[in-house]
Amino acid sequence: GMPLLMERTISRQITLESIVGVGRYGEVWKASWSGENIAVKIFKTIDEQSWKNEVDIYQTNMIHHASILNFIAADSKDIGDSVQLWIVTSFHPFGSLFDYLTNNELDEITALKMSLSIAHGLSHLHMYIPTFSLGAKPSIAHRDFKSKNILVKNDLSCCISDFGKQISSFYLDNFGNTNNVNVNNNNRIDNNINKIGTTRYMAPELLDGRLQMNSLDVELWKLADIYSMSLIFWEIATRTNISDLARPYQLPYFDSVSFDPTMDEMNAVVNVQRVRPALSSDWNRSVILKELMRSMTSCWFSARLTALCVKKNLLKHA
Ligand code: ADE
Repeated sequence: GMPLLMERTISRQITLESIVGVGRYGEVWKASWSGENIAVKIFKTIDEQSWKNEVDIYQTNMIHHASILNFIAADSKDIGDSVQLWIVTSFHPFGSLFDYLTNNELDEITALKMSLSIAHGLSHLHMYIPTFSLGAKPSIAHRDFKSKNILVKNDLSCCISDFGKQISSFYLDNFGNTNNVNVNNNNRIDNNINKIGTTRYMAPELLDGRLQMNSLDVELWKLADIYSMSLIFWEIATRTNISDLARPYQLPYFDSVSFDPTMDEMNAVVNVQRVRPALSSDWNRSVILKELMRSMTSCWFSARLTALCVKKNLLKHA
């Protein structure tokens, strides 16, 4: 599309300041652009597919949402002997939800605000939105949903980020044409097969192979995201301080699996032993934590709610 013309040069106007995140994908920098703080995610060149996949999401019609990380530009920057792949977004000083929960306890109101905004963002991502004239917004599944891929905004609501593993639905537009929003990279899925998700957050059906990694069924992947969201809600609940009862931050299944669990290890716990993260009876003292518990337990076994339904249930307490 036309914005790309501008985007080709934006990296020249940006000053990188400090690294705020490093991962398998590459690095995230705090940077400045005409006096404003922004974030720049720089991909490893070998991971061009994740960059393209993430750029696709941000160029989807109607993706813009308060609970989806705000996209500014994409750029491929020639640095002599190779090309640097950039995604430029809003900067959020609190960093990821994982970072925030590690260092801070929450009050109930904040726990509700965070979980509601997460459900709201996921419901928007998942939703198919038909339009009168322009292309519709397809259903999108995230496929690597976890507290490290959620950012905490200044008002302590959250937004979803890291769309490198997303999958979008094919859809019919208003003229009855079949569109594939990812038409430019139909190798994408194959290239990603061995890289999908983080085992700790993988839905039971992924761990035992009922849902295959190469499945193109977005509806099934949406259900897998919902399971991951239930673990994120549990992380939030464990850090919520109702009468001095917050526990130190721990990853989901910290007490059941090793630090970097294999799929077999996760499968033994999640499917064979049917273990789920422990709930605290103290949470019954708060209507908000009770609702969060209800959401978790309705989302981490087989009959899962939709993100929209979870959002509506939480909204009753807002
Ligand atoms: N870490 C990863 N992405 C970030 C962003 N947009 N703002 C702040 N920290 C981040």
